[in-house]
Amino acid sequence: MDVRIMVAFFLLIYGGDVNRVKSLGRYITWNDFKLQQDKDHDYKKIAESSRNGDDANESRVIVVDQKGSGDSTTVQAAVDMVPFNNSIRVKIYILPAVYREKVLVPASKPYISFIGDPNHASETVISWNDKASDRYKDGSELGTYRTASVAVESDYFCASGITIEVLYFTRNTVVAVPGGYKMQAVALRIAGNKAVLYPVRILGTQDTLLDDTGSHYFYQCYIQGSGDFIFGNARSLYKECSLHSVADKYGAIAAHHRNSEEEDTGFSFVNCSVTGSGLAILLGRAWGNYSRAVYSYCAIDIIIDPSGWSDWNQPWRQR
Ligand SMILES: *[C@@H]1O[C@H](CO)[C@@H](O)[C@H](O)[C@H]1NC(C)=O
Ligand SMILES: *[C@@H]1O[C@H](CO)[C@@H](O)[C@H](O)[C@H]1NC(C)=O
Ligand SMILES: *[C@@H]1O[C@H](CO)[C@@H](O)[C@H](O)[C@H]1NC(C)=O
Ligand SMILES: *[C@@H]1O[C@H](CO)[C@@H](O)[C@H](O)[C@H]1NC(C)=O
Repeated sequence: MDVRIMVAFFLLIYGGDVNRVKSLGRYITWNDFKLQQDKDHDYKKIAESSRNGDDANESRVIVVDQKGSGDSTTVQAAVDMVPFNNSIRVKIYILPAVYREKVLVPASKPYISFIGDPNHASETVISWNDKASDRYKDGSELGTYRTASVAVESDYFCASGITIEVLYFTRNTVVAVPGGYKMQAVALRIAGNKAVLYPVRILGTQDTLLDDTGSHYFYQCYIQGSGDFIFGNARSLYKECSLHSVADKYGAIAAHHRNSEEEDTGFSFVNCSVTGSGLAILLGRAWGNYSRAVYSYCAIDIIIDPSGWSDWNQPWRQR
């Protein structure tokens, strides 16, 4: 591993403010992505042993099975079972199915893992279909921020082997035409500190991944979208990810939102591939006065606009 990447990884996982959570280790380990005894995929045994066995003090497993043989039939119900101010790793084991629901992991529930099958991430899907122009019961507009199919506000979140999507294109029921008025919709909004996703598929069109605040590590993830499809003000490392454009002609990959010189946020894409459709895709658009996005060691298809970047019609952002 490149030393610079190791340093970046170390900063992401160990750096920053650690005061919010005091109990468990202030880091994420590879074990947090795995179930201890999943050799035979006997999930009842896994859940049982997590309650009584060697790991009982370190982690707990909650099984989500849409067919009704687990601890819950929806992902949100499993999150709801996690106690407030949770202090042990809770692995929410999600059996393959399309879960049609909107999921919120609130700030009061750290140390949650969503675990599907890392070799078949496309078979465990959390899918919803809000869009920015939808209205609340009181008539007010939802707006982009609140469209997220999955929103994570807690620290030390992990996800592995799952797909998070907005419905467009990907399933039978098409709800909206991308590019239409306020049709943008977020698949995943991630705002907790210190999250690791490996491997996870994140699918949408405009505004797919709101990488909002905190330090996040996306490793071998697949992220699909058209306009500004990775946006927000997080400090994130994307390593060996596939960034896939589904734009007709114009589009943009990253829209970073750093607004002041003092902030230490930015998107770093290392050893990623950029593929897909489009004729004039931008690597990035400067959403903030101090936006930062860096591509290094990436393999980039010939879909990028020669200008590369846009200053969002604010010339001073050229700096
Ligand atoms: C779990 O913690 C309890 C209380 O601290 C302790 O009595 C028990 O031995 C621990 N179990 C294991 C498997 O470490
Ligand atoms: C969770 O922790 C916070 C901060 O320590 C505390 O104010 C709150 O009452 C706790 N909530 C519960 C349900 O224990
Ligand atoms: C990029 O990833 C490939 C495949 O995992 C690996 O062989 C290669 O060493 C990586 N290159 C860099 C610069 O990290
Ligand atoms: C961005 O820079 C412009 C020009 O200097 C300034 O007018 C504007 O207030 C800045 N925006 C923010 C959010 O600081």
